[in-house]
Amino acid sequence: MAIDWLAQAQALRSELVARRRDLHQHPELAFEERRTASLVAAELSALGLEVQTGVGKTGVVGVLEGAQDGTTVLVRCDMDALPIHEANAAEYASQTPNTMHACGHDGHVAIGLGVAKLLAARRDQLAGRVKFVFQPAEEIAAGANAMIADGVLESPAPQVALGLHLWNNMPVGTVGVTEGAAMASANDFTVTVRGVGGHGALPDETRDPIFAAAQIISALQSVVSRNVSGLDTAVLSVCTIHGGDAMNVIPSEVTFGGTFRTYQPATNELVMRRLREVAEGVAAALGCTAEVRAQQLTPPLINDSAVNARLREAFKRVAPHLTLVDNARTMASEDMACFLERVRGTFFFVGSANHERGLDFPHHHPRFDFDEEALPLGAGLLAAAVAEYVLPSA
Ligand code: NI
Repeated sequence: MAIDWLAQAQALRSELVARRRDLHQHPELAFEERRTASLVAAELSALGLEVQTGVGKTGVVGVLEGAQDGTTVLVRCDMDALPIHEANAAEYASQTPNTMHACGHDGHVAIGLGVAKLLAARRDQLAGRVKFVFQPAEEIAAGANAMIADGVLESPAPQVALGLHLWNNMPVGTVGVTEGAAMASANDFTVTVRGVGGHGALPDETRDPIFAAAQIISALQSVVSRNVSGLDTAVLSVCTIHGGDAMNVIPSEVTFGGTFRTYQPATNELVMRRLREVAEGVAAALGCTAEVRAQQLTPPLINDSAVNARLREAFKRVAPHLTLVDNARTMASEDMACFLERVRGTFFFVGSANHERGLDFPHHHPRFDFDEEALPLGAGLLAAAVAEYVLPSA
């Protein structure tokens, strides 16, 4: 008899909602998730998992050991909030000024604990183990790497990595299992343009870095339009620019910076290379120099098609009424990508918007909130996904 994971998760509904609301009232920023982490550790211990705290600073790992040997599945949930002042008036609104769960990570923690509870209850039937990874600092793209550096992918090493994101870009009742790249890489860059400053009335005696920076910024728009294939995609945005502080003085230095996003590792390398070539080349042509500093924060998030196929089958079986889409993509990034770069797996989107109830503000908005029906849905789907690997008879 197949297990009805959605019904099982639905039975935990009030618990999931209460947990999420408590976390929502007490949000914590990246690497400051102490209350959240201790609550997670206490809950996992109570369920009988072997718990490790302080993994990647404030991360928590709980291992659920099955009765028999088998596959090790990593389940990743992120825990951090954002430096945003909540503008919602809900009774469970943030009690901390300028800190808010505006991305739904409160829901992810509640779902992760719910899945741990559902699977711990079937420990005797499990073949393999589930490694629950409660990750800090997703919002600054640092928590996954911090946990990896602390050995989260070793002893036991997972063979499959799974995770989800509540997703207000889709209505509740929709699930996105995307082929290939689902989320973009994130890269920061700064360009320092140096010239020779002087009097604003005598530009011929200067090497004007403001003029050079303007030309570089314009020329950088050629990277996406002229270098990246029309069949691929990328975004390059200059988001800061600083230089000069008097109306009649040409400064000697201008700095600007921004972000670029890609879906393919090779495209990321291409944009990185062209950014340098364009900045240095244009600056040189105008008698200046450009120093480019760029770093990749996260790689593109790429799902494994075999894991996708297995999840789709499981989701159709346990939730035939849900709408399953395969093209939910965003140029936003996620450091779950750091796990998926090393372990095959899938990160799926659980629709969480409800337009009628006004629960459809975008992620990172001060009025972000989601339909809590997505909590039991997410827990049921994630439990079913994990069960595919550790409870094959289910
Ligand atoms: Ni998020």
